[in-house]
Amino acid sequence: MSQQVRGVVAHKKGDPVSVETIVVPDPGPGEAVVKVQACGVCHTDLHYREGGINDDFPFLLGHEAAGIVESVGEGVTDVAPGDFVILNWRAVCGNCRACRRGEPWYCFSTHNATQKMTLTSGQELSPALGIGAFIEKTLVHAGQCTKVNPEAKPEVAGLLGCGVMAGIGAAINTGKVGRGDSIAVIGCGGVGNAAIAGARLAGASTIIAVDVDDRKLGWAKDFGATHTINSREQDAVEGIQALTDGNGANVVVDAVGRPETFTTAFYARDLAGTVVLVGVPTPDMRIELPLLDVFGRGGATKSSWYGDCLPSRDFPMLIDLHLQGRLPLEKFVSETIGLDDVEAAFHKMHKGEVLRSVVVF
Ligand SMILES: NC(=O)c1ccc[n+]([C@@H]2O[C@H](COP(=O)([O-])OP(=O)(O)OC[C@H]3O[C@@H](n4cnc5c(N)ncnc54)[C@H](O)[C@@H]3O)[C@@H](O)[C@H]2O)c1
Ligand SMILES: [Zn+2]
Ligand SMILES: [Zn+2]
Repeated sequence: MSQQVRGVVAHKKGDPVSVETIVVPDPGPGEAVVKVQACGVCHTDLHYREGGINDDFPFLLGHEAAGIVESVGEGVTDVAPGDFVILNWRAVCGNCRACRRGEPWYCFSTHNATQKMTLTSGQELSPALGIGAFIEKTLVHAGQCTKVNPEAKPEVAGLLGCGVMAGIGAAINTGKVGRGDSIAVIGCGGVGNAAIAGARLAGASTIIAVDVDDRKLGWAKDFGATHTINSREQDAVEGIQALTDGNGANVVVDAVGRPETFTTAFYARDLAGTVVLVGVPTPDMRIELPLLDVFGRGGATKSSWYGDCLPSRDFPMLIDLHLQGRLPLEKFVSETIGLDDVEAAFHKMHKGEVLRSVVVF
């Protein structure tokens, strides 16, 4: 028997989102239905709404979520009804060329539910990042459910499902920031501040936050930034070099994803340093760099998809560190809101008023 619940749908490019009745099928083989307890509003949801990801409207938005497994389909053994889980968009397949060479964080064939959630008209919905969690109950592949310690609050835990994991992982998994390193993070929204928190956890000794908004820089200090640069007032490359003995940082994370921020990151790192691009560019963006500089500066320019995380390895570990008081995930929650407030939350995000608005059910 399917169920009917309320969820947030983007019908058309650029149109305000609306709350609709959605039909959620019972879980089929390998699937689970999860009662969503909390779901954060991420910039990527807005990218979907703006048509920046693809044109598969209507979208069921939301993807940074935690909740309780309600029911599971045939053959599901890793999770059971009652389990507290964070939803992930990397349910590794175990069979693709990345999985087979032992790099499952690049899995090219991640699992999603086979059945579709629909509008009452029968029209199929495209769930954001294969999840769709601004909804009372959602249907996912069981591999998208990662069990974590249920003592963590859902509105905090859910954030690890996307942006916060992307930021922490950009610093520690992709950038491999370690004890005594210097790191600069450009763009201190939810993702950038998570990179700062990750760098502190990993023992970086110089952590430079760069943003155009002083409010964001204030929050960055709370997460562990040792220095801040407002790049509207000061050249960020010069500022980062001045704070690193004239050399540049070992790792620079671009958590904005624009040609100008990537270029800053490229020149603000030390020789043989690493640039990590975690902000998502749009298709029209181009960069031009002297090829001699690409050669001469050495090191690496990397992209970080979902912080190169392995949910089954990273989510339980990060939740444990949070519960031990070593990772202040609660500071990312600027406000908790209702399902009807997602559109308003997009506006607040656009104006830079929040790190994360989190829908709680
Ligand atoms: N790679 C991944 O797996 C992944 C996962 C989640 C989100 N993202 C992407 O990461 C990016 C950041 O997401 P978010 O939720 O933190 O967004 P956000 O809007 O909360 O934060 C962006 C920050 O960048 C700052 N900023 C904008 N332009 C700037 C500039 N020119 N110089 C310096 N700072 C600037 C803003 O003031 C803001 O603080 C988005 O592009 C999002 O889609 C990527
Ligand atoms: Zn795979
Ligand atoms: Zn996200």
